[in-house]
Amino acid sequence: ILFSSISGLLGGAAQANYAAANTFHDALAHHRHTHNLPATSLAWGLWAHTSTLTADLTSVDQARIRRTGLRPLTADQALALFDAVAFGDAGLPLVVPTGLTSTAEAPPPLLRGVVRQTRRAARTASSAGSTPAAGFTGLTPEQRSAALLDLVRTEVATVLSHPHPHTIPPDRPLIELGLDSLTAV
Ligand SMILES: NC(=O)c1ccc[n+]([C@@H]2O[C@H](COP(=O)([O-])OP(=O)(O)OC[C@H]3O[C@@H](n4cnc5c(N)ncnc54)[C@H](OP(=O)(O)O)[C@@H]3O)[C@@H](O)[C@H]2O)c1
Repeated sequence: ILFSSISGLLGGAAQANYAAANTFHDALAHHRHTHNLPATSLAWGLWAHTSTLTADLTSVDQARIRRTGLRPLTADQALALFDAVAFGDAGLPLVVPTGLTSTAEAPPPLLRGVVRQTRRAARTASSAGSTPAAGFTGLTPEQRSAALLDLVRTEVATVLSHPHPHTIPPDRPLIELGLDSLTAV
């Protein structure tokens, strides 16, 4: 039994190296299966119980995780899932024990079949997704600047869990607002 993380499957802000290391576990389990050797990689979602690993998660991190539709597992739930895998006979190379909400603001593509995107978020994404540029045609240059500022502020506020997007100062570098290049992407 290998302890891996769902971040290897979904990615996660500032977790590129962690994601890669966990995917190695998942791949090792697959590799062993091709040689008829036992192995199951458990790609855990977040546990509610704070560990050394999760002690540094801030409320902003927690909010970002919630927006993806992941819900922390209680220890009882996690242990029951562990038992189901360890003492079950499915013999799968990869199992993803995680808590999920039924709807979320920004479910990653892999979860979209099980976590519905909330309607408000879906609308924002689809109006922005049908290329923001399309919405800008027909606007005057001044209106375009305002619409673009509004779009960037909305996106930045979502990532930072900022409650008042319109107060985000447009002349302040994103890095000073707490966005590094990865969160910006
Ligand atoms: N907690 C979560 O929500 C979560 C979610 C997804 C995946 N996971 C995965 O689950 C596993 C456990 O996570 P955790 O949150 O319980 O982490 P943790 O609190 O940091 O515990 C890690 C454990 O690994 C031991 N350890 C670290 N380096 C070691 C080494 N070189 N040799 C032997 N033991 C070593 C530590 O021992 P010491 O205490 O002696 O240092 C500690 O007992 C990790 O693989 C993590 O990626 C956790």
